[in-house]
Amino acid sequence: MSILIRNGRVITADADFIADIFIEGETIKAIGQNLNVKAEKEIDATGKYIFPGGIDPHVHLDMPFMDTYSSDNYETGTRAALFGGTTMVIDFILQKQGNSLQAALDEWRSRSDNNCVGDYSFHMAVTDFNDETKKEIQGLIEKEGITSFKTFMAYKGALMIDDRQMIGLMEEVKKHGGLINVHATNGDMIDYLVAKHKSEGKLSPLYHYLSQPEITEAEASERFVDMSFYTSCPGYIVHLTCEGALNAVRNATKRNQKTFVETCIQYLIIDASLYEREDGAKWVMSPPLREKKDQATLWAGINQGLVQVVATDHCPFMWEQKQMGKDDFSKIPNGHPAIENRMELLFSEGVVKNKITLNKYVEVSSTNAAKIFGMFPRKGTIAIGSDADIVIFDPNEKHKLSATTHHMNVDYSGYEGWEVTGKVKTVLLRGKVAIEQNHCKIDKGYGRFIKRNKVSQII
Ligand code: URP
Ligand code: ZN
Ligand code: ZN
Repeated sequence: MSILIRNGRVITADADFIADIFIEGETIKAIGQNLNVKAEKEIDATGKYIFPGGIDPHVHLDMPFMDTYSSDNYETGTRAALFGGTTMVIDFILQKQGNSLQAALDEWRSRSDNNCVGDYSFHMAVTDFNDETKKEIQGLIEKEGITSFKTFMAYKGALMIDDRQMIGLMEEVKKHGGLINVHATNGDMIDYLVAKHKSEGKLSPLYHYLSQPEITEAEASERFVDMSFYTSCPGYIVHLTCEGALNAVRNATKRNQKTFVETCIQYLIIDASLYEREDGAKWVMSPPLREKKDQATLWAGINQGLVQVVATDHCPFMWEQKQMGKDDFSKIPNGHPAIENRMELLFSEGVVKNKITLNKYVEVSSTNAAKIFGMFPRKGTIAIGSDADIVIFDPNEKHKLSATTHHMNVDYSGYEGWEVTGKVKTVLLRGKVAIEQNHCKIDKGYGRFIKRNKVSQII
């Protein structure tokens, strides 16, 4: 199949120009003005923006968590992602404590393989680092193409590892060219505050927020960057939310240390006042939403190059699942749906409101994730030889977000009724039209597991 996209405004992390793009098979074959080629399909993109397909490196699909499963499976989640302009996701495998990493990989691949509509990869969450697990790290990086390892400094008694395990894992991962991702909040402090609030009969969603104050994240972020400095292992802090945590990273730069930082769309645009609502459980996630001053810090951090990625931490639960914690905030499954909304919300709230440039938009929604996670330039840009993962975007179309129209398998929206400016119109995934005229044109099974390279592209 060949496709010619005519006359779009091509925007990458470092360029902005009007051109035609010629695609043959799965990759981009030519880029230029008035290309003299014949294609089986032509798309007129006059007046539209052309972005590289979005990459969301933080999603949880079909994930066993807090006595239930996240409600989007690999099919519904990756399809919804495509509707929103995200052509590739990186999901998380969770090792079961006492079991091997290989067993977890097999289990996750049996749920995901042949079920994804969009492209995907995994981070491996190590919840039990020991002499046996240690032996598996090299093979995961070199044979399986899983080059990033997730660690939790919180969720005590479930997923959390201690600092001794963290340092051991960092040394092993560093040796083989991988990267450590971290959920950086202080699990012991949170555990203490949750128990304290419960003992005082403080059980509403607001106390989820009050059990994870900014200091719990600042402290753990500081400790993580120190351990990363000590071991020289590249680190990536997931879902960073607040000023204190970003200042820990800022301090680390003073000793010439580079730590990668991800925030998520929700932390940039909604705040903790939502926890006072009757339906506050919809926004129970960890870390919790923060304050307006933290949003200002995060936008500044993006523009200062301290925050490289805007992801979602998409972890949806139906309202009925959220009701598991109606009498006790600590039983509300943690997570928030956004996989479909990220690209449009970031454009509308970021580019349209002049908080970030168009190039920065591409950088944080696609290119940097491809670089940090070992997929660039195959993914994350529009260039000859790259996968033809392309979003054709109308920058002027206004529309409303709603659970009645979204494609995520969740019965509410965290952004019900929000008006956004800018709409994903057409999406190509590896040279195939995936989304057109509000329809998905590809089936589950088209999405491919992407083996990733070692961490060589330091940005
Ligand atoms: O609330 C969240 N973030 N749920 C998903 C698990 C995690 O911590 O990323
Ligand atoms: Zn987390
Ligand atoms: Zn997460």
